[in-house]
Amino acid sequence: MATYRIHHSPRLSGEVNVSTAKNATLPILAAGLLTEEPLIVKDVPRITDVEVMLQILEDCGAEVIRSGSDVSIRAVNPQSPGNETPIRKLRASVLVLGPILARSGSACVSLPGGCAIGQRPIDLHVMGLQAMGANVHAHGGQRQLSGKLTGARVYLDLPSVGATENLMMAATLATGQTILENAAKEPEIVDLAECLTAMGASITGAGTGTITITGADSLHGASFKPIPDRVEAGTLLCAAAITQGSVLIRRARPEHMRAVIFKLMEAGVGIRETPAGIRVSGTAISPFQARTLAYPGFPTDMQAPMMVVGLKCHGQSMISETVFENRFMHASELARLGSVIRVENHIAMIEGGYPLCGTTVRSTDLRAGAALMLAGLISEGETILQDPSGHIARGYQDLPQKLRSIGATVEEM
Ligand code: EPZ
Repeated sequence: MATYRIHHSPRLSGEVNVSTAKNATLPILAAGLLTEEPLIVKDVPRITDVEVMLQILEDCGAEVIRSGSDVSIRAVNPQSPGNETPIRKLRASVLVLGPILARSGSACVSLPGGCAIGQRPIDLHVMGLQAMGANVHAHGGQRQLSGKLTGARVYLDLPSVGATENLMMAATLATGQTILENAAKEPEIVDLAECLTAMGASITGAGTGTITITGADSLHGASFKPIPDRVEAGTLLCAAAITQGSVLIRRARPEHMRAVIFKLMEAGVGIRETPAGIRVSGTAISPFQARTLAYPGFPTDMQAPMMVVGLKCHGQSMISETVFENRFMHASELARLGSVIRVENHIAMIEGGYPLCGTTVRSTDLRAGAALMLAGLISEGETILQDPSGHIARGYQDLPQKLRSIGATVEEM
């Protein structure tokens, strides 16, 4: 349980560092199951999701050694996790499936379960592994997979990030060549491929819709530092924009954030790319239209923070959410602050320019929680943000402290 008190904020200013990406770190930690040698993941973010993933890896029989912000994973004899509790907490737990199956010839995982934003099935993960020769037995909420994996040509009905990651990892130890078609192209996919390559895997095409993996008998250990968090960087960009501040977001990689940068610039936000990071200077914000899509489209993880940007401008903005079926829950919480947002099916119409007044609101999921924290910065008085499930600490390292470092008043109660 966490509760935050957020005061109406002056223009944010100064410099802030972006942490290592949650959504790059989680699959890379799972990749540690692919070798009996140590995989050292450097500068791991201090977030709850990483702690849960490390618990799961230990439950899979891996040795996990922390050294400062680096983590060493060593899996001599990985087996399926037995403890369902952390599995149910973390959607990314499904990413142990491919590596364990590829290493041991057998894997059993509980369906990670949906979450607030959607049902989030794993049918594409299972379909791909079946195409690679796995036998699948369903026992209620569990999936038991077994068999020696051989290379296959797999077409993903959806460019699923997790399915691409799971199948890419499994294919590194399959016999022969695997081709993933309609694969996800996110920067986190490229980062995972680079880590797997450092471990001795043979992968081409990562970052395109077609990824080719040639299986090896084994992989070796490596030391790898994942990319900076483009969603945290985008969230901080939005915080600076809505307070009309001037902030340098250090370590942010503009090449990972083109859709977000262009959308903010289209809305009138001043953005300059510098060797040190991205400098944002907020000015008057104009209404915009955004549609969430798979990368390189506008990221669904930035939909909630961008909705708060829409509250700041005078006029009607529109955001359509095409990736998840239930990712507008923050709209009703934003309404408690006085915002006027109409949600119909997958489209949110945001009437910007209404004065917002602080009150008590509640986070419903990770990015919604961050959006509500940003909304508190532009609401008169004080906003109390209740975060009973600790969503914000799941995915953002020290977000309140980062915002305070650039002039916001965000207290952890
Ligand atoms: C990853 O989730 C991210 N999580 C999500 O970030 C992100 O929103 C999502 O990719 C999309 O970019 C991590 O990387 C840990 P998907 P993932 O498989 O892999 C459907 C955050 O806030 N689908 O690309 O679970 C699914 O239901 C989180 O940091 C199937 O139908 O996303 C969804 O509608 C939230 N069958 C769509 O595809 C499957 O087998 C995209 O899901 C798999 C997915």
